[in-house]
Amino acid sequence: MSRKRWFTIAAMLLTATLYRNRLRAYLKEASANVRAFDFPSAGTYNALVAAVLEGFYARVAVEVAAAHPHGKLLEVESGPGRLAVRLAREAPGMTVTGVDISDAMIERAARRAARAGLSERVQFEVGDVAALPLSAGEFDGVVSTLSLHHWSERASGLAEIYRVLKTGGEARIYDLAHWLWRPAQDGNRLSQLAAASPFGEGEVEVVRWPDSVPAFVMLRVRRQPLPQEATGCATC
Ligand SMILES: C[S@@+](CC[C@H](N)C(=O)[O-])C[C@H]1O[C@@H](n2cnc3c(N)ncnc32)[C@H](O)[C@@H]1O
Repeated sequence: MSRKRWFTIAAMLLTATLYRNRLRAYLKEASANVRAFDFPSAGTYNALVAAVLEGFYARVAVEVAAAHPHGKLLEVESGPGRLAVRLAREAPGMTVTGVDISDAMIERAARRAARAGLSERVQFEVGDVAALPLSAGEFDGVVSTLSLHHWSERASGLAEIYRVLKTGGEARIYDLAHWLWRPAQDGNRLSQLAAASPFGEGEVEVVRWPDSVPAFVMLRVRRQPLPQEATGCATC
């Protein structure tokens, strides 16, 4: 082997030794990010969804704004905040709170809301869907996109969403139809999840986007009034 090649190998080994702690920390962070959002960094995730999913967020924003034109809305796992900002633009009477476990995502989302001049109505907070840092009965509606498959504790996540919803409030949880050719089976799994949660039941819709591809499924659950609330009888 030539001296030049030996020198290159030695330089690479020396660099790897000197920077091994930094490299290890980077790999650890990247693998945690891949588990949480399928990408090594919030920046790459944001760039990808900007390129391919803006049309989907636009559609979800129209649907959710029609359901909650004036309410307080929670976006669970708000990521880089693209949907939250769209929602606030679509519904000027709505306030949006985004919760996400990633500091990097929350910072990015808050910057997006500030750039859009929407910081007063769109706020973000770091938190885990399985233990939301929010009070009970605070929200008229909840939305979540492309996140359910990351919830390590799905039952706790749904129970938390139930807790923070007002009576009569509705949550719409959109996720990838994991098996694009079997969206009905994925729907069954979502129905079972809803049935086992405090919601007791839920409706599942296949979302065709763009146009005819069954790319997503949407689980819609509603916090029903308790029997005594429905009859207006406080002592029943
Ligand atoms: C695939 S991204 C979806 C982000 C956004 N909803 C969207 O449609 O672009 C999943 C997001 O869930 C967040 N996340 C993962 N596990 C979480 C948890 N337990 N609680 C809160 N957020 C979580 C990640 O940080 C990431 O931002």
